[in-house]
Amino acid sequence: MTRSTQQGRAVDTHRLSEHVANAAERRWAVIVVLIVASLLAMMIFTGLHWAAMPPSRVETVDVRTLHIKGEFVESNLGTALEKDGNVVVRLIAQQYSFSPQCIVVPAGTPVTFRGTSTDAIHGFVVGRTNANTMLVPGFVSTFTTSFPKVGEQLMPCHEYCGIGHEAMWARVQVIPADEFFAKSKNSERLNCVPR
Ligand code: CUA
Repeated sequence: MTRSTQQGRAVDTHRLSEHVANAAERRWAVIVVLIVASLLAMMIFTGLHWAAMPPSRVETVDVRTLHIKGEFVESNLGTALEKDGNVVVRLIAQQYSFSPQCIVVPAGTPVTFRGTSTDAIHGFVVGRTNANTMLVPGFVSTFTTSFPKVGEQLMPCHEYCGIGHEAMWARVQVIPADEFFAKSKNSERLNCVPR
């Protein structure tokens, strides 16, 4: 074999492997674009069809002073009718319970939830409604929703947070709006109706 044929073969092999590499890269580029497109389609579908809520803006809170000062002190937890007329629920999650254990809200009225965690990552979902969020230490999770039906809903923790995770849940009592507003005139914080 002469020197020039050897060189020619080396060039051929090089071209062939370049071709194979380009084809593989194109294939992966198409797959990645398809994955991104299907995730976007899923987000749009769940957003429009199931009224899923996008993540809230980032708001931070100091875990170390949570119990001592600010809006998440114990006396400020629960449902409040704010001065501006908005209904706001403030809650804290910790291993392995929610404070408060029972939340009362008016039916058919926008309710804003504001919650955080003191230790691990927790989360909650209210029954089969779209009230669903994660509670992360150091951050305030907030969303606004309304509950059309009167009744009681279970509110379990839905982020695995340790051995007591399954036992971590609270209740949400949805009461008629007129009853709620009549009650909230008399007291600052609303408690659940004992059963
Ligand atoms: Cu808290 Cu799971």
